[in-house]
Amino acid sequence: MYNKLTVEDVDVKGKKVLVRCDFNVPLNDKQEITDETRIVGALPTIQYLIDNGAKVILCSHMGKPKGKPVPELSLAPVAKRLSEKLGKEVIFAADDNVVGENAKNAVSNMSEGDVVLLENTRYRAEETKNEETFSKELASLADLFVNDAFGTAHRAHCSNVGVSALLKPAVAGYLIEKEIKYLGNAVNAPERPLVAILGGSKVSSKISVIENLLKKVDKLIIGGGMAYTFEAAMGRTTGTSLLEPDYIDYAKKMIDEAGDKLVLPIDTVVAEKFDNDAPSKVVEGSIPDGWMGLDIGPKTIELYKNVLKDAKTVVWNGPMGVFEMPNFAKGTNEIASVLAELDAATIIGGGDSVAAVNQAGLGDKMSHISTGGGASMEFLEGKELPGIAALTDKA
Ligand code: 3PG
Repeated sequence: MYNKLTVEDVDVKGKKVLVRCDFNVPLNDKQEITDETRIVGALPTIQYLIDNGAKVILCSHMGKPKGKPVPELSLAPVAKRLSEKLGKEVIFAADDNVVGENAKNAVSNMSEGDVVLLENTRYRAEETKNEETFSKELASLADLFVNDAFGTAHRAHCSNVGVSALLKPAVAGYLIEKEIKYLGNAVNAPERPLVAILGGSKVSSKISVIENLLKKVDKLIIGGGMAYTFEAAMGRTTGTSLLEPDYIDYAKKMIDEAGDKLVLPIDTVVAEKFDNDAPSKVVEGSIPDGWMGLDIGPKTIELYKNVLKDAKTVVWNGPMGVFEMPNFAKGTNEIASVLAELDAATIIGGGDSVAAVNQAGLGDKMSHISTGGGASMEFLEGKELPGIAALTDKA
């Protein structure tokens, strides 16, 4: 587990502090932010630095502009939303080269408690290659570095790893600290029983997670599209459901090795086609020809509820069915409701499961909703996250 210095371990008063956030938030075609979770997640660190007299220089990437300025991926809308959230002006340094005249002037005019936001770090081609030229420019703006971008911690880029080598101490912000605490404890020092729920479409993209979690959990529940490859491995037919034939043998091996640790669906909501209004029914065991599985069935929901009822720690990654379609959202919503009522640490790891929990209006009933998609997956895979590894260790 990581044991890194945090913002509270360093004196920030009067210092220019470069803070890497993950402001990679979704925008609509009017450049409006449609989900501010990551902005809200960054506020505690920013507010702490303001309250303690730092000069706060924020940076982040947005999307994949591939090393050149793309106006639609500017961080200007983030500066505006941040100003509203903090109740004070966030000065936006609109430099196409990120560390340009605007940024340098804004930083040299800062007083204690001021906040400047730099332009999208991926406007620079060096960023994603972690090339020292850009890391040095970023580092030249500040006295010390805070990394609070958990969502980007699985990348080794200039604005997290590169700058950590140049600006010491490089410390963790509150969001990274919180993500490490919840995800790390869930996997490495959980209160037991520990139950993991894995869903989503593909077994192939979750192999490392399955293997790492099977070593740690008391039960591993499988749902979503990936369940059909496991069902095929048990000798059932799967109709027109999502199937990865190349992974059937792998699924067989997992079933043999995991024994009763692995909990698989016993019934399925099937439809004639991938359409919310398609005729549907519940089947047990095999799925008939011409039908596709789109959600877990009622007996499976009961089985999963039963497994979950005594859990003390639950990690959930991936929906149980096509939750975007109301007629096939029941399995996912019921699991979200069970978790909301449990007397347990409930950790929602990334991407679709976060969207599903929020869609069910139950986000605030979970112990922790990770702001990392790829980063939380790699954490669950047991991989080292370079963005965190690069920070200064506690003595
Ligand atoms: C994310 O959205 O998962 C992070 O912001 C990282 O973005 P990336 O996948 O473009 O590196």
